Amino acid sequence: EKGGYEHFMLKEINEQPRSIADCMRGRLDAKNGRLILGGLRDYMNKFQNADRIIITACGTSWHAGLVAEYLFEEFARIPVEVEYASEFRYRNPVISEKDFVIAISQSGETADTLAAIELAKSKGATIFGVCNVVGSSIARATHAGCYTHAGPEIGVASTKAFTAQISVLTMMALMLGYQRGTLTESKYVQLLNELEGIPGKVEKALKMNSNVEKIAEIYKDSRNFLYLGRGYNFPVALEGALKLKEISYIHAEGYPAAEMKHGPIALIDEEMPVVFIATKDTSYEKVVSNIQEVKARKGKIIAVVTEGDTVVRGMADHVLEIPDTAEAFVPLLSVIPLQQLSYHIAVMRGCNVDQPRNLAKSVTVE
Ligand code: M6R
Repeated sequence: EKGGYEHFMLKEINEQPRSIADCMRGRLDAKNGRLILGGLRDYMNKFQNADRIIITACGTSWHAGLVAEYLFEEFARIPVEVEYASEFRYRNPVISEKDFVIAISQSGETADTLAAIELAKSKGATIFGVCNVVGSSIARATHAGCYTHAGPEIGVASTKAFTAQISVLTMMALMLGYQRGTLTESKYVQLLNELEGIPGKVEKALKMNSNVEKIAEIYKDSRNFLYLGRGYNFPVALEGALKLKEISYIHAEGYPAAEMKHGPIALIDEEMPVVFIATKDTSYEKVVSNIQEVKARKGKIIAVVTEGDTVVRGMADHVLEIPDTAEAFVPLLSVIPLQQLSYHIAVMRGCNVDQPRNLAKSVTVE
């Protein structure tokens, strides 16, 4: 059932070109410039006219929510708040009928996320679910929703569910932007075409695997890791760090790269591997200076870069290339080598990759 792979996690990582395509099938029709999300049809009006979008989730799904914050604000110009479900439910949040709440959950059974939904519902907000498991509690508790169609995810570390969540949220943001007129027709069609090519680019990104393995071999005994990114890659940095923590038991932290000088830079010495996500986007130059700052303190630099990059290549100890794409779609590619890195390090350390200690696939208690 592992399809010839040693672990479910590796199978699920490699399935991503297909799971993302499955997620977009029947929804995205780039040739005709169309996007159809059945689950949104009856609620499009509410969505379009919302004062605010509140996204609530836990763990990796919360990271997908952070990516969505950038997507919704960029394309649809509606303010977004992303909330840990466990905090949201207990702090008596201000919610009204004009809020559109999106709950993201792979399992659809996370207790805190379910409770956050019930709370928002009691205040009259519209609740939309982005779930992977069909018929799950969260899918049933929401007013409407969109399944991610990633197929069953068995490994405790979420991989293909994350990229499917981002795919759904990307389609929602594009649709919303187009409907609201904040995204021009030509830009919309251009982005739809680029999105359609994402599964093929994920396939290419996966080819870095043997390079990733070599890097894993070098750093598998490190005691700490730092992950840094900016903009759309900031949530990816958090996700890379979470993946490493949960399956390899190495302490890792993710930060927006600019926050480094407000504290974490004190940690950097020759023992510290720092993973930079330094793709060619609007924050590229800024990330390059952050890399210089780490280099000056002798940190070891592993950088995820855009194909053909020469500047970062000249500075980093190791580079991992991913294909170029629209800035907003980069997380779907940049997270791939980070998933592979955590996988290989965990395997080399003899960890139980699919069932890490102390963790369960769905957290049904608060
Ligand atoms: O099923 P959910 O998406 O609601 O689960 C949320 C988190 O428990 C989950 O993403 C967790 O952080 C993963 N183990 C991360 O890989």
